Amino acid sequence: MSHALQNVVRLPARMVSAIATDPADLWIRALEKFSERRERRRPPCQYQAEPDWEPRLHSLLGVAWPCVACAEFQELWPKIIGSLTASGLRIGPQSFGPWNDGDTGLVRAMWCLTRNLRPAKVVETGVARGLTSRFILEAMERNGTGHLWSIDLPPTNPELQRQVGAAVEDRLRDRWSYIRGSSRRHLPVLLHELGQIDLFLHDSLHSERNVRFELDRAWGALRPGGAAVIDDIDANWGFHSFTQTFPSHSSLVCEAEPLQPDLRRFNGKGLFGIVLKGGRRIDA
Ligand SMILES: C[S@@+](CC[C@H](N)C(=O)[O-])C[C@H]1O[C@@H](n2cnc3c(N)ncnc32)[C@H](O)[C@@H]1O
Repeated sequence: MSHALQNVVRLPARMVSAIATDPADLWIRALEKFSERRERRRPPCQYQAEPDWEPRLHSLLGVAWPCVACAEFQELWPKIIGSLTASGLRIGPQSFGPWNDGDTGLVRAMWCLTRNLRPAKVVETGVARGLTSRFILEAMERNGTGHLWSIDLPPTNPELQRQVGAAVEDRLRDRWSYIRGSSRRHLPVLLHELGQIDLFLHDSLHSERNVRFELDRAWGALRPGGAAVIDDIDANWGFHSFTQTFPSHSSLVCEAEPLQPDLRRFNGKGLFGIVLKGGRRIDA
């Protein structure tokens, strides 16, 4: 059977299975896609990346730059990328259907935040193969404390579903709660259960509607001195509108460092954003 014909035959089976297993999330997927398409009519937001985002982040955290954690990351990143590549995974832009794996800049920011803030509770949305999850969990292991909750609505493609969380080794899973489903359904419930959180990462669906939904809720639960990190801010106006709503908190626009150029992005790389609640770390 030709490849095209196989896809035509497979698609209804996937849809039937999605309807049977999770009709609510199927409906949410359709609504999110619709609003994402409508948002694309607006011209892109003209963010200006800050070349010195990393020293500024460290100064806001009250630690010297480069910190000890930066050096740890330099050593760990090539080892983990090497082992994932050796296991047959291609890491980088559009390597998980249309989605990107966490890039070096984003993952390094998460590493330094996790090592320096020593968070007890971290929430992220969007797992894919789990690059950010792996590094947050490795950092928690070195801290000797912390738990990560990851909300993720995986693609319907069974091959991609098999790869979900592939980067997260079993030895790290005691600190990890993987919650399958959309952030729209699960984030409010999770935040209600957790009370306060220390660190939040948005890396799920990059529409303004979804970014604001997640950020507005996570911000309410984030402790003073905690941080929210938002990937792919250049894909929508969500980060801009959020920082306009909360202008008194320090925010940074950071350039991504993908392993290969991402030709869909205005700068071939993409951008991510960081907002520190209260600007400075409060409980050292
Ligand atoms: C950019 S990838 C995540 C990359 C990952 N953080 C990493 O570091 O490699 C985005 C993931 O979010 C999932 N996703 C899409 N829409 C979602 C939603 N509404 N809620 C939660 N996850 C979603 C996608 O299926 C995909 O696995």
